[in-house]
Amino acid sequence: MRDLQKRAEGKKWSEAAAEMFQKGIEKLERMHPSTPDYSTIYNHLDLLIDLPWNEYTQDVYDIRKARKVLDNDHYGMDKIKDRILEYLAVLKLKGDMKSPILCFIGPPGIGKTSLGKSIANAIGRKYVRFSLGGLHDESELRGHRKTYIGAMPGRIIQSLRKVKSSNPVFILDEMDKLGRDFRGDPSSALLEILDPEQNHTFYDNYLELEYDLSKVLFIATANSLNEIQPALRDRLEIINLNGYAVEEKTEIAKKHLLPKQKEAHGLDKYSIKLNNAVLVKLIQEYTRESGVRELERQLASIMRNLAMKAAMDDEVQHFDVTEDLVEEVLGKPKYTNDLYTKSNPPGVAIGLAWTYVGGEILFIESTISPGKGGLTLTGNLGNVMKESATTALAFIQSHCKELQLEPSIFEKNNIHIHVPEGAVPKDGPSAGITMLTTMLSVLTGKKVKPFLAMTGEITLRGQVLPVGGIKEKF
Ligand SMILES: Nc1ncnc2c1ncn2[C@@H]1O[C@H](COP(=O)(O)OP(=O)(O)OP(=O)(O)O)[C@@H](O)[C@H]1O
Ligand SMILES: [Mg+2]
Repeated sequence: MRDLQKRAEGKKWSEAAAEMFQKGIEKLERMHPSTPDYSTIYNHLDLLIDLPWNEYTQDVYDIRKARKVLDNDHYGMDKIKDRILEYLAVLKLKGDMKSPILCFIGPPGIGKTSLGKSIANAIGRKYVRFSLGGLHDESELRGHRKTYIGAMPGRIIQSLRKVKSSNPVFILDEMDKLGRDFRGDPSSALLEILDPEQNHTFYDNYLELEYDLSKVLFIATANSLNEIQPALRDRLEIINLNGYAVEEKTEIAKKHLLPKQKEAHGLDKYSIKLNNAVLVKLIQEYTRESGVRELERQLASIMRNLAMKAAMDDEVQHFDVTEDLVEEVLGKPKYTNDLYTKSNPPGVAIGLAWTYVGGEILFIESTISPGKGGLTLTGNLGNVMKESATTALAFIQSHCKELQLEPSIFEKNNIHIHVPEGAVPKDGPSAGITMLTTMLSVLTGKKVKPFLAMTGEITLRGQVLPVGGIKEKF
């Protein structure tokens, strides 16, 4: 108990906290150390002491330096970097500010999580992160009341206890994976945590005290905005991140991934040559992703192979990573573009789809067979896609004349549309134009041009609506 009191000296805690601590100490004095209550109270006081109370780290206000740190860690992402620097600038001028909640949205492996860490470095704050993925229960965020056996503070308080700073950069990772079930909805607790008007009095059930979260810089990450609860979304300042094009990936690999993997495999001393052509081969033939995670993994495989060679032979100083070496280590290319260069029979049209992991190419096929005018759709399609098909068919039927089709063709035939890879659920409106093209192609017996892929929702009057996610689809 004496040690508790000693550790509590110099704590800058609130009046309520100081009072609670004093009361706890008094209680402990009256208790026998072997009673279970004793340890409950002891643990609670221990938490009180461990928690940072108004202990702030000094922000680095040198904007140029901060920019350098950000640029050193990540290629591109100028929009976010600017936003962070603006934030710093305001903080510097005003001295104090309710932190906005930034939320990075984008496909996997494009550096959302790692950017968070880099931001902490750039502004000289401590860094904590926890993943909201699979969190079901409000009490995981807010803690259990002490009276429960095995009660614990919530994850927010636990994390702050770990970083020992009241103004860290706090990454709430994978916000779209937040669970929800009969045990309660954690997003309602998050609502309070993330609201700058409310979070200076965040209440943890275990701590039984209010804690000021208003100086914490919260950054959330998510793959898809749609999965985030609307009320929660409203509190966030959304920053969209796009996937990278091949040229950008090449730069990222050269400037960041390769040096990182080299170091991770103890190859610092060696010179490794890996030219652009080889990198492009790696990117195009061994990975298919918006981000660079798979690319990083492939580079790691190559580095492992080189490390083995270096360990076996003390003489070598230099490695040349050639296309042959890539094939030797990683095997035959996994992805080729051959498929798309062949011309297809009538009834096949190529669509571009957007999923939150990036772009994808869909071959949509259709056939006609004698029947009574039915429309069958297969390939694990969602409702929206089924509706697109119906709309497309209705459009064709109502424009038989312009399209030079015999109206009776619909009465005597069934149409079957199939979107291959039935194991993957597919949905979204932008397949409309592709559905229309495939049906028209099979009905007229004309081939669709090779090298042509399309995307876009159609209306009953045959207009194609604008689409989003072009960069991913590309
Ligand atoms: N622009 C970039 N510059 C340098 N490195 C990058 C860049 N983008 C991503 N990386 C690297 O790619 C790897 C994967 O990034 P990260 O784990 O941050 O992805 P993420 O966007 O959080 O993905 P997820 O949505 O799956 O969580 C990290 O090692 C990161 O450093
Ligand atoms: Mg992440």
